[in-house]
Amino acid sequence: MTQLHAEVIAAQRQYTLRARDQNLGLIAPEAFVRGIRHMGYRSNVEAIAELVDNSIQAYAETVDIVFGYDADGSARKPTHLAVIDNGHGMDPDMIRFAMMWGGTHRENDRGGLGRFGYGLPCATVSMGRCFTIYSKTSGGHLHAVTFELDTVIDGNAGAEREAAIPTPELAELPHFLHDAMRRSYPGGWQSGTVIVIEKLDRLDWSTAAGLRRNLVRQFGVAYHKLLWATRVQVDGEQVRPIDPLFLNPDADLHNLDEDRAIALDPVTVRIEGDERRVGDVVLRYAWLPPSFAAIDKTRDAIGINANDRFPIMKQYHGIIFSRNGRLVDVQSRTPWTIFINNDRYIRIEIEFSAVLDEAFGVTTSKQQVSVSPEMWDRLRGAGLHKAIEHLRAKVKSAKAGRPAREPRTVSVSAPSALPARVTRGLAVPRDVAVSDALRMLLDEIESRASNAKLAVRTEYRELLRGWSERMAATPRDRGKSYREQTNTD
Ligand SMILES: Nc1ncnc2c1ncn2[C@@H]1O[C@H](COP(=O)(O)OP(=O)(O)OP(=O)(O)O)[C@@H](O)[C@H]1O
Ligand SMILES: [Mg+2]
Repeated sequence: MTQLHAEVIAAQRQYTLRARDQNLGLIAPEAFVRGIRHMGYRSNVEAIAELVDNSIQAYAETVDIVFGYDADGSARKPTHLAVIDNGHGMDPDMIRFAMMWGGTHRENDRGGLGRFGYGLPCATVSMGRCFTIYSKTSGGHLHAVTFELDTVIDGNAGAEREAAIPTPELAELPHFLHDAMRRSYPGGWQSGTVIVIEKLDRLDWSTAAGLRRNLVRQFGVAYHKLLWATRVQVDGEQVRPIDPLFLNPDADLHNLDEDRAIALDPVTVRIEGDERRVGDVVLRYAWLPPSFAAIDKTRDAIGINANDRFPIMKQYHGIIFSRNGRLVDVQSRTPWTIFINNDRYIRIEIEFSAVLDEAFGVTTSKQQVSVSPEMWDRLRGAGLHKAIEHLRAKVKSAKAGRPAREPRTVSVSAPSALPARVTRGLAVPRDVAVSDALRMLLDEIESRASNAKLAVRTEYRELLRGWSERMAATPRDRGKSYREQTNTD
């Protein structure tokens, strides 16, 4: 045995010695719970989406996402979070199974959004260290069960580990939900489920406002086909549908200005999945005129001239995959082509039935596809490859046909050099015009943001948005005094 082998075997023996008096169930509970927290939701938004999926599937007409704060804590960052619905609810026995990894009444079902029995527990522990499921069916009483991560991780469950999920008990909703309940259910709450997550130690956003803004925008896109049946509200703000192809006239951003997306005919193909079950794949296509994302239509959609469509075009860039009506992934690569920045103006959605999950490589968290080579072939056969080329040609010729742009004017009477107060300590040549320097700075921020983690990216975007809003609110002639205001030379 080599030294390296011996070291590992010794470590293994130590571990088995320690673990010997534990039950040899299939799962080591402490390690399992610690590891599953990092199961890999892209962000809190995808985790909360698991709970919204469950509510939608429980036929909820309303889903409220509510934030709560510690009395003595900062009012900016939530310390607890709840998802409230008025769906059919659960009996007390079902509440226990809902809490359990693998507990589901719909295992391998392909008719709705859930099928694995992992969504609820995975999503909740990915954000916090304690969660409670409250639920009641029509005519029943509210029951609840709480799961404390630390009792499992510390091993306090001990020999009773098998009975780690306690019996549901009669309960009342926590205080911080009373306002939201009164607002959404003035006539009373007949049935439904409330998931409360406490000890939020894994929030991607440092403020409730940041989390709310991202939830509203991403849910607007992810659930744009389902929001007609279920109203979703985040911290009191209603989620409005946003069609990432900008084709649906009832969705937000469709009528933002005179520009409209242009559709190609959708194509439907029937495909046989596993166990000879047949499912539909619908390919939807659109292309956008060159000024689609611009406020001032004579100029490019960059910096403060980008309208509210731009972030959607950028974030949902590539092929959008939607499973049973709910967006699961966006991919900017196919076996034949890679989407580049200009391709933001071509819009493609592949809507597939969950019957075809295997062929689309849907993972347990349902936020990713991994399309099999055979499925790519089928999609190509259905015209996807040709459609991409056709859309690209349309965008290109529309761009070529654009009237020549007027020379760019800068509304501030730009001084020839930046003020010393701004440039002190920086290597900025004195003869750079403010407008050029500003453009370069914006490019720099944009490129940093694109390469940063989601939370940092959001911070950058917020900075730019706040700045652009202040600019928009500034009377034009104020620009004249720019030099006097800033030049401390
Ligand atoms: N909001 C809800 N209303 C009613 N029942 C619910 C709700 N949320 C969860 N359940 C019940 O709890 C079970 C477990 O939910 P969970 O999200 O863990 O699994 P799933 O939705 O069945 O599958 P998936 O892992 O694919 O999400 C569900 O099968 C359902 O019976
Ligand atoms: Mg689920």
